[in-house]
Amino acid sequence: MSKFYPISIKNIERETDDCVSISLDIRDKLKDNFNYKAGQYLTFRMFFKGNDVRRSYSLCSSPLDNEWKVAVKEIENGQFSSYANRSLKVGDILEVMPPMGNFTIKADLNTKLNIVSFASGSGITPILSFIKTVLKSNQQSTFTLFYGNKTSDSIIFKNELENLKKIYSDRLFIYYIFSREPQSEKLFTGRLSAEKSLELSKKHFDIKNTDGFFLCGPEEMIIQISQQLEKLGVEKSKIHFELFTTPTEALKTLNPSATENQSDAVTTSKVTIILDDNAIEFDLDSNGESILDVALKNGADLPFACKGGVCCTCKAKVTSGTVKMDMNYGLEPDEVERGYVLTCQSHPTSPEVVVDFDAY
Ligand code: FES
Repeated sequence: MSKFYPISIKNIERETDDCVSISLDIRDKLKDNFNYKAGQYLTFRMFFKGNDVRRSYSLCSSPLDNEWKVAVKEIENGQFSSYANRSLKVGDILEVMPPMGNFTIKADLNTKLNIVSFASGSGITPILSFIKTVLKSNQQSTFTLFYGNKTSDSIIFKNELENLKKIYSDRLFIYYIFSREPQSEKLFTGRLSAEKSLELSKKHFDIKNTDGFFLCGPEEMIIQISQQLEKLGVEKSKIHFELFTTPTEALKTLNPSATENQSDAVTTSKVTIILDDNAIEFDLDSNGESILDVALKNGADLPFACKGGVCCTCKAKVTSGTVKMDMNYGLEPDEVERGYVLTCQSHPTSPEVVVDFDAY
């Protein structure tokens, strides 16, 4: 089961006025636990006034570079993000869970790939990892990025992106789009929207020759661009996205796997949680709190972060009985078929349910 490890901070760099990048010192003995794929994230835990605060941040480094780096943008009233931006120092120790997440490139990176990506603001972090990994893995692969920001000053990783453009001048194509800084070409002014992606598709990428589309940013951007790409004939299986915030109902249209084939009948069930070979049991109504929340109240030290059906940190396998999930924006359809659930979104629907966290 995933657990937290104390990790020292190796380096901190200010990327923009409200964003720092943080490099972690992963010692040799932990490298196997912290192996990762481009696009995965780390979960951090801190206690503020006794409250257990967990936050997940995508790795912006590439696994090919033997580096573990995340970017943390300060958000209003954000406990962890404010601490990271204002108080964290090199040498401090943070509690970190090993890399997780399904927002990865499933194709063989050693083959030639043409990837197109839309990112907005701090949505650049997993995309930066993709860029470095894809272009380094195969000398013929190409990467096209449309990166939305308010102004040129708010571009996170501007220097690194510009350097990468120099290194991969014939294979990396970056187009910045500014919502509050008018550009001479109208196409590059405004927000990343359905219309904007349609216009960009006419001039700057070839749908037929694109192996995968990777979207990371706010929900509205993801919904609009995904739907536009589908209208343009892109297969759903080629469109991948990641959110940083808990989604609203609207996004369910993009991922119907959450509640398919699940009963609405209210039942009381005996739930058994398997964790580190121990069993914890409790009774739970199917229309009450989530399995994760009740298990935590019963003293189980289970992994979780977003509690919003996005990050997958709370993933476990139902080995007996059935559950329904309110939302699922993290698990792939084949994982759901194999019995995996997001326990923060799960409610029992059979008299007895066994949920195994050791089967992660
Ligand atoms: S805690 Fe993030 S999906 Fe459950």
